[in-house]
Amino acid sequence: MIRQKLLIPPLPTEPVDMMQFWQRPFETIEKLHERYGPIVLMSPDEPQAIAVTSAAGAQEFFTRPDVFSLRLLKFHPPENTPIYRLVYGLGSMDHIDHPLRRPSFVSFFRRDTVRKALDQLTAQIDAYFDTLELNKTYDMVTLLQHLMGNVTMNSFFSGFSDDEIYSYWKETELWVTRCSRFDIEVTEEIDPSTPYGALMEISERVEARYRAAIAEERQNPGTHPLLHMLVSMVINGQPISDDEVVGHMNIVVSGSSSAAYALAWAIFFLTQYPDYSAMMREEVNRVCGDDPVTIQHLDAFDLSMRVLKESARLMPVASVFIRKALDDTSICQYEVRKDTMLFCSAYTLHRQPSVFPEPRRFRPERWIGLTPPPFTYIPFGAGVHQCAGMRWSQLVMRLVLSRLIQRFSFDLEPGSEVGWKQLVSVVPTGLNIRLKPPSEPFVLNRSGGVMRDLVDFDEPL
Ligand code: HEM
Repeated sequence: MIRQKLLIPPLPTEPVDMMQFWQRPFETIEKLHERYGPIVLMSPDEPQAIAVTSAAGAQEFFTRPDVFSLRLLKFHPPENTPIYRLVYGLGSMDHIDHPLRRPSFVSFFRRDTVRKALDQLTAQIDAYFDTLELNKTYDMVTLLQHLMGNVTMNSFFSGFSDDEIYSYWKETELWVTRCSRFDIEVTEEIDPSTPYGALMEISERVEARYRAAIAEERQNPGTHPLLHMLVSMVINGQPISDDEVVGHMNIVVSGSSSAAYALAWAIFFLTQYPDYSAMMREEVNRVCGDDPVTIQHLDAFDLSMRVLKESARLMPVASVFIRKALDDTSICQYEVRKDTMLFCSAYTLHRQPSVFPEPRRFRPERWIGLTPPPFTYIPFGAGVHQCAGMRWSQLVMRLVLSRLIQRFSFDLEPGSEVGWKQLVSVVPTGLNIRLKPPSEPFVLNRSGGVMRDLVDFDEPL
């Protein structure tokens, strides 16, 4: 067999400062893509770093888990620790364990199962909206964190005040942020002043709460529909273990923050295009009349689906994916050395004009009849690690957004400058939203700030 000679990816003339890259990953990759194309060697020093921005590159990136690994990216806590049990989720398993365990989680979050828990969620969303004041300005990110945090945690816990529940949710979010650090060194001695020791402390508290909830649910079956379904799962003929339930609960709780941020972006875009908000209100009224939105109505909300899709196209909360090469290999005929870090940018893929004409414009109607080619639209990732909570999140987000629109009008506070910050997700900043009675119109107050560098707002609809 003739072995093809591998190419060396183009190397930028200005070296990429990898410390700065971690602060602004999607912007850095976007600039490299414009200048050097879809495969770029960002750092020639060992371990090398490669940016990937073509669909062909993304396909290899996402579908070759035996070479491009998600698992070995991070540290390896010993199996008998709470950290291990909390990350005993799919994202941390190797390519042998992962295909064996994933089906249980995915089948759990099948649409039918999820529907059963959503009635309870609908009531909780409404109860939360009841607490909001009209003609008051809210930081929308905080509001949605509260909402998604409380709604999700209430699926698992009872007997706590809303503030306690929210503080537990925040602690899990902190846990995710701490876990994503790259300076964690596993040690035998646990020293709380080290990143590993601090993470271990949080993990113990988070795990203890989950275990208490599991024990309560086993004692009084059916108290919490979602948890009840989780603990009743049978996998390969065996009842699910408490360790696995802990891992699943933790993924649901940590995934709910991504949903809060994705919703915040959608609401930002709606404030900049209030005509869409008005059209969504019409759609909700047409489908529901005076009845509150329920899960049964959601399939008829085409516009809310398109708004969420378009918002996730322009500002995907998971904007850059990371893998590590386990061996010397190649991607799109370019050389990849063992231990290279690969970065695939959803942000750049989502802005390819050949798939999404006028890519910098917010145009939900582009989704009418559009099925993007594989690996060109990946807000929930792709391939073997594609988000296992995708259906669940989509339903919850549509429910929250349509119920919000049914109950309130909202505008961006005049003078607001919306920007973004890179946490584990890309999160909007400065999103000050005024809630008004639904009888008032949606009004356009143009945002200043850096979002104008990323999106063309000025064209009329
Ligand atoms: C809008 C909200 C969400 C977004 C945008 C999102 C996005 C993602 C992405 C991009 C990945 C793949 C990461 C990678 O390949 O490196 C992922 C994985 C995952 N997500 Fe989500 N997620 C969301 C909410 C959720 C929720 C609520 C749950 C749980 C119910 C969840 C469960 C999972 C699981 C289990 C995985 C790992 C799948 C695997 O490795 O097989 N996600 N998510």
